[in-house]
Amino acid sequence: MKKRRNRRKKIILLLFIIVLCLGVGSYFVLMPAQVSLDFSFMSESVKDVAKKIEETKKEEEKETLTPPQEETITSDDNGYGKEITGPTYIKGILIVNKTYSLPNHFATGNDETAYTALQRLQAGANQAGYSMPLLSGFRSQQTQETLYNRYVVRDGKDLADTYSARPGHSEHETGLAFDIGSIDNNYGETNAGRWLKEHAHEYGFIIRYPKGKEDITGYQYEPWHVRYLGVEHAKKIYEKNITLEEYLGIA
Ligand code: DAL
Ligand code: ZN
Repeated sequence: MKKRRNRRKKIILLLFIIVLCLGVGSYFVLMPAQVSLDFSFMSESVKDVAKKIEETKKEEEKETLTPPQEETITSDDNGYGKEITGPTYIKGILIVNKTYSLPNHFATGNDETAYTALQRLQAGANQAGYSMPLLSGFRSQQTQETLYNRYVVRDGKDLADTYSARPGHSEHETGLAFDIGSIDNNYGETNAGRWLKEHAHEYGFIIRYPKGKEDITGYQYEPWHVRYLGVEHAKKIYEKNITLEEYLGIA
């Protein structure tokens, strides 16, 4: 009887030991997996932090590479609703219009390359039998202001805004724009005006304010106002029959 009880005790003890061994064993088998999972979780979060730091760095770099621009949004006023203070270059081209303005004293006179190209254009026109005198080239912001104010007094602000740029917004302040031939609304229908329209690009110029594109350029047709861009850009704009705004993707 005693022997049987001892045997039962031994069996219970053995079972206890087996259960204990299984428990301890599974602890050591399963825990490392958990531990390694925990570590991988930790390393993922470290990776996340590193990624975020890298992204922030890139954003900061982007900001320092982009020239600071001030954008003021006011009410729409004859096309002057939104102002971006420049100088602004898109595709390497200086853009000046009712939105993109220039700081005072941006230039001091006609751009040399543009002026040389203008002289070549005038010589070409002469050879074709047309005289193409320079009527207005570089204008300071002060001169533009005087002109604009004079037009406002004469015609009122709404009308003046259709043909004269407000100070800081005139291409004439860049030294890259010229009024040539004749400041006459019908100049584009004359032989000289037609020649200019068809040949300006060969010398690196575009007719900056074309007919039918007033809504895009913000100004009435000016067959006499040419803007220097260099032959490559001017030729593309001429061939596509588009405005500078369209060419630069800001129309
Ligand atoms: N006439 C052009 C728009 C200017 O004033 O610059
Ligand atoms: Zn002009």
